[in-house]
Amino acid sequence: MFGRIEEHFKKHGYGLWAVELPGQSPFIGFIGLAEVSFETSFTPCVEIGWRLARSWWGRGLATEGAQAALAYGFQHLGLSEIVSLTVPGNTRSRRVMEKLGMRYAEDFEHPRIEPGHPLRRHVLYRLTRTEWIFNQPS
Ligand SMILES: CC(C)(COP(=O)(O)OP(=O)(O)OC[C@H]1O[C@@H](n2cnc3c(N)ncnc32)[C@H](O)[C@@H]1OP(=O)(O)O)[C@@H](O)C(=O)NCCC(=O)NCCS
Repeated sequence: MFGRIEEHFKKHGYGLWAVELPGQSPFIGFIGLAEVSFETSFTPCVEIGWRLARSWWGRGLATEGAQAALAYGFQHLGLSEIVSLTVPGNTRSRRVMEKLGMRYAEDFEHPRIEPGHPLRRHVLYRLTRTEWIFNQPS
């Protein structure tokens, strides 16, 4: 996985950043941006994703890091939209998406997961740059 993340940074100049909690831990997970690596009705597009070590969950850290990643994507990279994907039952991740101001768009079948597999159904959330700008505190 690290190899794939490094490759993405080399190719695109951005990716899934390592998360450091200054003074507490040098590495608690990753949060960042990545090109969606499969083809479907809503690709090509850039997604925001996250994974933190379990002991750091529930402190608002994913949301805080993701806000910084969205700002980088919209302001620095000039993206017009950022999406996020997960399985319907991943309530924590969906809550992070909602706290970021992302809106549920549709359910879809993940093309990389075999038909009939319980994780094949996914939810897609979207956020345009315009929506993101309007959500920023003035
Ligand atoms: C998803 C993940 C990054 C969230 O990290 P986090 O730092 O705990 O997220 P936050 O604290 O910013 O927000 C979590 C929200 O989910 C809520 N939540 C937590 N457990 C919940 C549950 N069982 N049901 C509903 N909401 C829940 C929290 O209350 C919080 O919302 P709130 O601020 O309104 O109270 C973390 O759980 C993780 O790494 N999970 C495993 C990897 C993963 O699923 N990644 C996404 C794959 S698509």
